[in-house]
Parts: sequence; C-alpha cells; structure tokens
Amino acid sequence: MISVITELHQSLVDQLVSTCGEQHVLASAHDRTTYGSDETEDLHFMPAVVVRPGTVQEISSILQLANREKIPVTPRGAGTGLSGGALPVCGGIVLSTERLNRIIEIDERNLQATVEPGVINQVFRDAVEAKGLFYPPDPASRGSCFLGGNLAENAGGPKAVKYGTTKDYVLNCEVVLPTGEIIWTGANTLKNSTGYNLTQLIVGSEGTLGIITKIVFRLIPLPTQNLLMLVPFFSPEKACEAVSAVFRAGFTPSAMEFMERDAIDFVLRFVDVKIPVKDEHQAHLLIEVDGHDLDALFKDCEKISEVMYAHECDEVMFADTAQQKADLWRMRRGVGEAVKSHSVYKEEDTVVPRAELPVLLKGVKEIGKKYGFKSVCYGHAGDGNLHVNIIKEGMSDEDWNKKVPTGIREIFELCVKLKGTISGEHGIGYVQKSYMDIPFDPTALELQKGIKRLFDPNGILNPGKMFV
Ligand code: LAC
Ligand code: ZN
Repeated sequence: MISVITELHQSLVDQLVSTCGEQHVLASAHDRTTYGSDETEDLHFMPAVVVRPGTVQEISSILQLANREKIPVTPRGAGTGLSGGALPVCGGIVLSTERLNRIIEIDERNLQATVEPGVINQVFRDAVEAKGLFYPPDPASRGSCFLGGNLAENAGGPKAVKYGTTKDYVLNCEVVLPTGEIIWTGANTLKNSTGYNLTQLIVGSEGTLGIITKIVFRLIPLPTQNLLMLVPFFSPEKACEAVSAVFRAGFTPSAMEFMERDAIDFVLRFVDVKIPVKDEHQAHLLIEVDGHDLDALFKDCEKISEVMYAHECDEVMFADTAQQKADLWRMRRGVGEAVKSHSVYKEEDTVVPRAELPVLLKGVKEIGKKYGFKSVCYGHAGDGNLHVNIIKEGMSDEDWNKKVPTGIREIFELCVKLKGTISGEHGIGYVQKSYMDIPFDPTALELQKGIKRLFDPNGILNPGKMFV
C-alpha cells in the first residue's frame, strides 16, 4: 500500500514545473483545497500539489516521476463524480485533464469522433449534433462533466435505457500507463474480436489502471423527433410496476425516469418549473420516445399511456412545447443538486433487473424505517437503476456514521439478492469500496486486484479507490 503524501519535496515540485510550466503546477493552499473535493457528500482531502498537463508526453513524464518516487496520483476530470473517484485520499498529485479539451476530429464518413478527455460532455454533443450526429450518454452533470471522467466511471444518464451507457460508444482509447508508456487499447472499428478487450477494461476503471488521453467514440444518426410525457401515480410501487410493463408491451422509450414525491417536492423548491402536483400524487414517471416519424411516436405514446392507466396512474400529461420539454428535463436533472442543497446525504446508485424495481423500492423504505433514515428515491427506472439518496437532516453524527452504513449494506445485499449490483453508473470510488464483498466473491475480487497490480505494481494510480 502506497503511503499518504501531504507535502512534496521542492526538488520534485521543480521537476513538475519543468515538465508542465510554472502556471500549471498549483501549490497554494487555496488551489489545493479547490481540487480536494468533488461532488461526493461533504468529503475533502488535501493534495500535495495539483498539475495541469497540456500534452500526453507531459502526462507520461509526470507518471514516470511519480512511479519512481512512489507518489500517489489522482486523475481528475471536472470533479462532478458522486462516488469520490477524484478525491485525492492519499494526498500526492492531483492530475487534472482540464487542458486536454480538444475535439480532435469528427469523422462524418465513419460516424466517429476522436476527443481529448477534458472535453465537456455537452460541448461534444452540441458539436456532433451540428453535423446531424448523436452521442447519447447524458449524465445529469452533462453541462460540466468531462468525457474522460464519463469513461472512467462508465457514466450513464436517462438515454441509456434505449442507447446504452458510455462503454457502448467507446471504440478505442489512448492510455498512459503508470510506467509512462503510452498505448492504444483497440481499433477504430465497430467490430473487434482481437485479443482481450482492453478498451472495455479501461472504461469504468476509475483512473486506477491508466490515464485516458484520447478517446475514439462511435456516433449514431441524430433522431429528429421526440415526445415527452409526465405521468403522476398515486402509488410509487405501481409506478415502478408500470415501467417493466412498457417494455413487455413492445416499446423501448428513449428515457424512462422515476421520481418519488419527495424528489419532486425538493426539486420544485430549487428550480423554477410549474407542474400541477396534487396532494395524492406519490410518484411520477417521465417518459420520452424518439425517432423520425412523429405520427408513429404519437401512436407509441397512446399505447404507452394505456399501459400507464392499467397501473392506476392519474392523467398523463404531454409537454407541448420545446420549452416545456426543457423545463421537465431541467427539473429531473436538478433533483440531485436539490437534495444536496437541502442536507448532507449519501448517494447510493442501486441497480436491479428492471422488473425487480418495485421490490427494491419497497425494501429500501423498509430498511430505512428499521435504521431510522429517510431516503429520496429517483432515477433511471427503465434500466432498473434507482438513485437512493439517504439524507442526514437532523440525524446525529453517531447514527449517520454507524447505523446508516449498516442500512446501506442491507440495501446492497437486497440488490444482489435480486440479481442486481451496487452501482449502475456512478462507480465505486471511495465511498462504496467497503461494500465490494457483496457483489463479488473473494476469488472474483482477487482477480480484479490482480489486474490492478499488473497495470500498477507500485499502486500509484488513484490509490484508496475501488478496493479496501
Ligand atoms: C442523476 C444523477 C445523480 O441521475 O446520476 O440525476
Ligand atoms: Zn443518474
């Protein structure tokens, strides 16, 4: 295990300066504080220094130095992660990819694009959209999160239900290994049966195996039409039951989001959106369908509405204008931040096979009652991916630190019993690592640790993450 490094010897700082330039080696307490937290809970760890390399060669030199001197290196994108992946829990160097922010090429012949890791998700989707192309993965933080971070955590978002997550769009990447060696993981092809799939191993590896410096994505044609409906339910369980019924009826919406009543109440205090919520509404589904033929989409919505009414919903509402659609999405994307602004909270990213969602929701509430915590549940119901936000409010520190983790363990055990797992799209990072024994038996866990050792024998890259 690598040691915590709170301060770097001046000669090492000088070497970093000669690699990256003085203005890109940040050592002031203020800068180190800024780069010491991400969006995860209220956690903060102080790095010894922050570096902002501008080229892959600079990253290679930094890693060679760190590997030789056994200095922890925590790669960082935009710091929007929710599992603590970018927290420098062992101090050392925070390596920010913010200067690697070029879209290198949009290849319209092959429907592909090559980018650097510091490109903002939304900037990329706008750039490809201008060419009639679509990059579907759209995490709630898409306005600020980086594509490199999206790869590291295998980010998802609402569109994943129809289009898949980040991993489904990555064809190839350039990676700097802890030795400083630079490799490409695959090929720029849609099919590839050549050797082990290093590309997919890097996606979701949370910066523990290498630093991603270039990404080749596949893109798809942009759907030109969509319809959005908001469906109120009197019972959250019924809303969850309706979700899997839609797919069984033969439809795949481009988004199928669940929000329980508290999520709606929290977010409506936070964003300026008007929707008619009656006292007896206990949950909502936000359902989008997309494609090219508007008449066909209206027909799909009619059938989907029938499925909803069969599950005892109140009146189905349609967004009539682009503004209404944007407002409803702003509301949905705002839930996480609204909860965060209300209270310290723990974000659990539970995921189960879709039809088990009602059992999961019921179980989460029962476990909450047993351990005395309140949870706000919402998320990507079409994927069986329920974000469980456990809020601290007036709970004592002792209960928060002792009882809540026991309750979380029980929630995760329930997920695994239902053949699900403990993270759908946020990753394990720092805050979920002590639960990795639940989804994996010791042999499977040891295999993963062996992969880590093979890539990073000195354990310099993002130490203190994923495994205890
Ligand atoms: C969302 C984030 C929290 O779905 O994943 O809003
Ligand atoms: Zn989400």
